[in-house]
Amino acid sequence: MLKKLAISAVAALSLSAGAAMAAGGAGHIEDVDFSFEGPFGKFDQNQLQRGLKVYTEVCSACHGLRYVPIRTLSDEGGPHFTEAQVRQYAADNFETFDAELDDTRPAKPADFFPQSNLDNAPDLSLMAKARAGFHGPEGTGINQFFKGIGGPEYIVSLLTGYTGKSKEEAGTTLYENTAFPGGWISMAPPLEGGDVDFDDGHSNDLHHEAEDIAAFLMWTAEPKMMARQQAGFIGVLILLITTILLYLTNKRIWAPIKGKKKA
Ligand code: HEC
Repeated sequence: MLKKLAISAVAALSLSAGAAMAAGGAGHIEDVDFSFEGPFGKFDQNQLQRGLKVYTEVCSACHGLRYVPIRTLSDEGGPHFTEAQVRQYAADNFETFDAELDDTRPAKPADFFPQSNLDNAPDLSLMAKARAGFHGPEGTGINQFFKGIGGPEYIVSLLTGYTGKSKEEAGTTLYENTAFPGGWISMAPPLEGGDVDFDDGHSNDLHHEAEDIAAFLMWTAEPKMMARQQAGFIGVLILLITTILLYLTNKRIWAPIKGKKKA
């Protein structure tokens, strides 16, 4: 009897684990220690600059960043380029249609990054927040509490998760990918390592490039993360001080009455 119970309990557990995986539907996501994680995390300015380079030279061929104003590249806490560098970058890389001129002109810092060039390539502005890498354990999402939702980790795993296999389906080529839900994605592997040369001499192997673009996309999705964390921290500190003061006040107010009781 006991043995039977134990067996059915194990069966139920493995069933629910299977169901949770199916519900998440996600592939394998590895954790990455990013500089911006944790209550005192900060974006690494050099990493963001490298990530922008990966975006500009590789991803922008298909993907847009249309919610991101180019001028924010000079923001403190972000890539923090000089304004002159941003002006140069905008003019060198993008063109905008100007209604007043009724023609295209080189982009200015006040313009936004362009839209996706390819119809079925999603805009990447908010992608790092739109995808959750961590669902577990058992689909409860408790991991998200400790490691973040895993959006940037998902992007790293996606870019490094190609197995090299591909197949044709209804006229499109699908590439096997261990991170993409369903396992087959229509984006050909965009990075193979050595795709860009970084100005700061940082390694440009596949994994480093993937981490840099993922960090950059976390910044585009949440550019004010550091300011928000700081405000939150100060808020908690103020609450803590208030708590201590109230505790002491309470003690003092009741002291005469409590004192009498003892005597
Ligand atoms: C040749 C065009 C092309 C290039 C270059 C390209 N992508 Fe994609 N990407 C696509 C297409 C198409 C999809 C939609 C795939 C699908 O849904 O099957 C996609 C989807 C994605 C997704 C969303 C996956 C999801 O969960 O829905 C991410 C993230 C992504 N690309 C990141 C990148 C990054 C980062 C780069 C640059 C390193 C890049 N892509 C370069 C075409 C491209």
